[in-house]
Amino acid sequence: MKIAILPGDGIGPEIIEQAVRVLNALDEKFEMETAPVGGAGYEAHGHPLPDATLALAKAADAVLFGAVGDWKYDKLERALRPEQAILGLRKNLNLFANLRPAILYPELAGASTLKPEVVSGLDILIIRELTGDIYFGQPRGVRTAPDGAFKGEREGFDTMRYAESEIRRIAHVAFQAARKRDKRLTSVDKANVLETFQFWKDIVTDVHKEYQDVTLDHMYVDNAAMQLVRAPKKFDVIVTGNMFGDILSDAAAMLTGSIGMLPSASLDANNKGLYEPSHGSAPDIAGKGVANPLATILSAAMMLRFSLNRAEQADRIENAVKAVLAQGLRTPDIYEEGTTKVGTKEMGDAVVQALR
Ligand code: IPM
Ligand code: MG
Repeated sequence: MKIAILPGDGIGPEIIEQAVRVLNALDEKFEMETAPVGGAGYEAHGHPLPDATLALAKAADAVLFGAVGDWKYDKLERALRPEQAILGLRKNLNLFANLRPAILYPELAGASTLKPEVVSGLDILIIRELTGDIYFGQPRGVRTAPDGAFKGEREGFDTMRYAESEIRRIAHVAFQAARKRDKRLTSVDKANVLETFQFWKDIVTDVHKEYQDVTLDHMYVDNAAMQLVRAPKKFDVIVTGNMFGDILSDAAAMLTGSIGMLPSASLDANNKGLYEPSHGSAPDIAGKGVANPLATILSAAMMLRFSLNRAEQADRIENAVKAVLAQGLRTPDIYEEGTTKVGTKEMGDAVVQALR
């Protein structure tokens, strides 16, 4: 089993370092190879996704990804910006299914900005389609409007589109995930306005015929945003397109108050995957040793479960994380009075210790 390790920018390298230590503390040893990506890829090879990094990611059984992005690259042309690395990896590796769990650990109930009774015990799974939609649709660009009311004026445009097969395959992933949970799936669309999402709704409804044991409902994205803050525990699994999923998953993550705790998986049709924390590169705290490594450590656990078929090892890591929370250890992002504030490395130490 070979794991590609892509630390990236900002806090990426320091949180990845702790996740690698945790992996190395398991009984089974995995082959790991590190390569630069994002701003680090640009610095090393002039491109956010260097050829050698992409080749390594393709050859590996799984990819563990830190985070990319830094303000200092904001002035580069779009194709050279750090974000292109993650978009390029998703597209080139066909990672169409993005699993973003939002779980509120009981010890962290106070970290949420919502009332405890609204979020305590929260356990929802957002499944975001990741390689289609307006993110990748062609044509796109800035041009002189060829016709219409604004003819002759400059305009920016993108294309929202989904092919039937793209909707079917993400719907199957979602129904199967719901089957393993509370068997309730909410498909989020904007069928009242957009052709693409009326089509989405029709196809998801059709796929549902194969999963009659799962309850399916449909919700418009604006209402879904409202319900996520009003009564988030009513959801079990949510499936949606790339852009709506981007937005709703940030909202869902923040329900838990601790985006520093949330892992994510991006999978292809064969469960090969890229695993990354749901948070970003946080350049403002990079190098200070205060970043929360738990989302990355939990991403490594997801990797063991989904891509490497090592469910027992994944359980061990998840239990170790619960144990350190129960011990009262907290990085600054989840710190509350009465708990013990620790840094990135101390948190990693504690998880390694709890594994033993
Ligand atoms: C995410 C991020 C990315 C996205 C950015 C960094 C390109 O926001 O993973 O949610 O929009 O998908
Ligand atoms: Mg996002």
